[in-house]
Amino acid sequence: MPLVTSAELFKKAYGKYAVGAFNVNNMEIIQGIVEAAKEEQSPLILQVSAGARKYAKHIYLMKLVEAALEDTDLPICLHLDHGEDFEIAKSCIDGGFTSVMIDGSKLPFEENIALTKKVVEYAHANGVVVEAELGRLAGVEDDIKVSAKDSSYTDPDQAAEFVYKSGCDSLAIAIGTSHGAYKFKGDPSLDFARLETIAKLLPGFPLVLHGASTVLPEFVAKCNQFGGEIKGAQGVPEEMLFRTTTMGICKINIDTDLRLAMTASIREYMADHPGDFDPRQYLSPAREAIKNMVKHKIKSVLNSSNRI
Ligand code: G3H
Ligand code: 13P
Ligand code: ZN
Repeated sequence: MPLVTSAELFKKAYGKYAVGAFNVNNMEIIQGIVEAAKEEQSPLILQVSAGARKYAKHIYLMKLVEAALEDTDLPICLHLDHGEDFEIAKSCIDGGFTSVMIDGSKLPFEENIALTKKVVEYAHANGVVVEAELGRLAGVEDDIKVSAKDSSYTDPDQAAEFVYKSGCDSLAIAIGTSHGAYKFKGDPSLDFARLETIAKLLPGFPLVLHGASTVLPEFVAKCNQFGGEIKGAQGVPEEMLFRTTTMGICKINIDTDLRLAMTASIREYMADHPGDFDPRQYLSPAREAIKNMVKHKIKSVLNSSNRI
């Protein structure tokens, strides 16, 4: 099966379940995610950040995803995560991605619309779809820190105007999630009333949640048990994320929880096998840890099992 666009996946998912968008950086991460989706018969979005492209190179990631397509019959979308300018979006569109995000969320409203519109025009002319963002999440992404006070929830009326004027195919909104491993000091929760209002103003339009890792305390503890000093604080509970999948959220982004699962596995393996130095020995359980985490998310957050 060739790569599909996220729009095709969202059409089937809207109001029933969400498609997991997992960040990929190397072969073991891709294999772990894809094996989980295959076992669960779940659609899938593999997403690549600017940092991942720099680390692994576009062509390597592209070829690994092509291998995943050949190896499975899964509907997979390959997506640019947090594209910050027209050039990176164009490069991913020209390089075979089926979906790109243009993240103008830090720009003034009208500039965000203008940039998104420019990407939409180029993407649509090439059969590619576009995710945009309005509102600002707290947390860390691509080494940029956004403090809680600089974050801002998405304004529902602005969201409707933004979609209408920019022509984007899906919209990431800020309703309480945040990026990275250190989420909130207090009790994290979601602004369901805001989500309901946005979904009412944009009927049938796919909405996206970033920063949806839960940072399960047992994984932070497991990472740190073997000498780590990762500072983690729990994110929005999985039951709350699950609820959004019937309210217009069609895509849920998860990266940090995979990083923690992989790191915990490698640290544990190294502690138990101090004499081993063959990367296959510690990367095999790490790949399995990714797979288990993705299976868990498919069942507990996305509700996307057996949707193929
Ligand atoms: O939201 C950002 C993702 O977690 C990607 O992180 O830019 O470090 O690859 P990265
Ligand atoms: P987390 O840091 O919560 O995993 O969020 C990932 C994300 O939003 C990628 O765009
Ligand atoms: Zn994000």
